[in-house]
Amino acid sequence: MKHQSLFARVSIAACLFGALTILPVFAPSAGAQPADPKRGRALAEIWCITCHVIDREQTRAVPASPPPFPALADDPAVTPERISGFLRQPHPPMPDMSLTNQEVADLVAYIQSLKQ
Ligand code: HEC
Repeated sequence: MKHQSLFARVSIAACLFGALTILPVFAPSAGAQPADPKRGRALAEIWCITCHVIDREQTRAVPASPPPFPALADDPAVTPERISGFLRQPHPPMPDMSLTNQEVADLVAYIQSLKQ
């Protein structure tokens, strides 16, 4: 009996811990603000510019393989859903940037704003 209750307590503690570690992943959507391309742009300047051409004016050299953001914006196959799905998964050689839902939404809004 004593063992059982100890096991039960450990299980509850484990569940609580699990819930606490998972919750923050979902929490941002609760108080989410509308996607903001300006914040997305700022994030792109910090996180993405080392590999991607992030606008139509950029002259800074980048590696050849990553697609330029304006090209992504113009490609009808690259939907907002595809970009946000892509950004939520680690994708070598892109580092896992552990972006929040809000950051993903802002980056998608920014890339979409480049559409011509
Ligand atoms: C270390 C270099 C690197 C960094 C930093 C980087 N990327 Fe990438 N990214 C790549 C490469 C390489 C590809 C092509 C991968 C492929 O096609 O498999 C890519 C592809 C993409 C794609 C195309 C997805 C598709 O559906 O074709 C998107 C969108 C993208 N990156 C967005 C971003 C954003 C937004 C950031 C900043 C938050 C970022 N990347 C930072 C290297 C990088």
